[in-house]
Amino acid sequence: MKLCMIGAGYVGLVSGACFSDLGNSVICVDSNLKKINDLKNGIIPIYEPGLEELVKKNYKVGRIKFTNDLKHAVISSDIIFICVGTPTKRNSFQADLSQIYKVTKDIRKHIKKFKIIITKSTVPITTGDKIEKIILEKKARKLFAVVSNPEFLREGEAIRDFMYPDRIIIGTNNKKANNLLKNLYDPIIKRGRKYLNTSRRGAELIKYASNAFLATKISYINEISNLCEKTGVDIEDVSIGMGLDQRIGSRFLRAGPGYGGSCFPKDTRALIGTAEKYNTSLSIVKSTIKSNDQRQKILFNRVKKILKNKINNKKITFLGVTFKANTDDMRESLSLKLIPKLHKLGGKISYYDPSGKKECFEKYKNVHFFNKISLACEKSDLIILHTEWNEFKNLNFKKLIKKKNFIIYDLRNVYSHKKMISNKINYYGIGV
Ligand code: UDX
Ligand code: UDX
Repeated sequence: MKLCMIGAGYVGLVSGACFSDLGNSVICVDSNLKKINDLKNGIIPIYEPGLEELVKKNYKVGRIKFTNDLKHAVISSDIIFICVGTPTKRNSFQADLSQIYKVTKDIRKHIKKFKIIITKSTVPITTGDKIEKIILEKKARKLFAVVSNPEFLREGEAIRDFMYPDRIIIGTNNKKANNLLKNLYDPIIKRGRKYLNTSRRGAELIKYASNAFLATKISYINEISNLCEKTGVDIEDVSIGMGLDQRIGSRFLRAGPGYGGSCFPKDTRALIGTAEKYNTSLSIVKSTIKSNDQRQKILFNRVKKILKNKINNKKITFLGVTFKANTDDMRESLSLKLIPKLHKLGGKISYYDPSGKKECFEKYKNVHFFNKISLACEKSDLIILHTEWNEFKNLNFKKLIKKKNFIIYDLRNVYSHKKMISNKINYYGIGV
């Protein structure tokens, strides 16, 4: 089938690459010319395992193309995926949909024969209705169908999540569109993956309700971990014990630094914003947001306690600074809060991240990037294990740090508390 992805960001690029690998002809459009030129030259703008190989392979055989010519892309495609950003509006809980409506009007100009227009970006309930209304101002109803097909792609696992999803959600009551999309997803459905056709508003809400639920699950276990720290219970035992109950399930039950990233924070906020519009109180989601906001304060206070309130001149090393492992994404990462606060108290911060140096820390005098774990860790007073990249999972801290009396604060519980203590390492984890 002939597809185009409007917006070659995280979601548009991954989805486009995967669709092309399934044999479709895909055009990725982006208004950012540099991004398009880079992609044409094989430079992938984001770090995502497997993406570069997939893009290069399909680009070589002409199944995926990159352009900033939206007109050409829309005219030559049957199915158009909208994958532009939907950030939170400044000082509000509402999603900023300006990019969505802008591209809707751009697409509208070039609809001459039947097109399926799909929102893959996360959009609040009724956005599909509004897109339809905008197009109907200029084009006949029979020329298009607006469908919601939310993405459930985790950064770092995005290709696997696309190719082997738990479910594909298609929100439309248009039979023709549903049949075409079922065909499009057929290679994935054939792998035994579930396909659910629902109403458009239903699909829009499924996305938000899912992300808010997962964010709540994480916040819940994080709060339980606070109790563990006070009562001498190991949170890992609690997570395993709870997760074995199939009604609960073990996934997304890892206590840690709080959820970050480009989706959970903005989607929980936007869900509250939508509920308020409809005079509905989502008190649980509100508590989740509050709990996650408090998490960074709790962890900052714990760092201070671990260092006995003596931060000045202490060498503090961050292993990983992104919001989680296997991504270069810094959006809503705990390190963005923790590093400036510790720096302000006189801490000398060094960090290593497998995805490289981060511009956002350039402005701090005493925050330095090292391109080797050993260089970042040498002579450190405190190591904060901030993300769980594989290369952090088997470190010999004594050899790396070359100093007595260092402390490890493992925000991802990568290491066994018992083993660390028996190795005489001053170790702290989450919920232990
Ligand atoms: C986006 C949404 O924010 C998210 O809610 C959704 O679930 C998936 O899509 P992401 O792919 O991470 O997430 O967005 P981003 O990395 O910001 O990429 C959007 C791309 O669209 C950018 O490359 C931007 O240049 C492009 N864009 C934006 C256009 O091509 N045209 C526009 O008018 C606006
Ligand atoms: C999320 C959704 O999972 C995905 O379906 C899509 O909607 C995009 O948003 P992503 O933000 O890439 O994916 O990462 P995810 O793996 O969901 O993690 C989000 C945050 O929760 C991270 O900060 C992660 O470290 C944290 N997390 C996750 C935990 O603290 N504990 C867990 O058990 C799982």
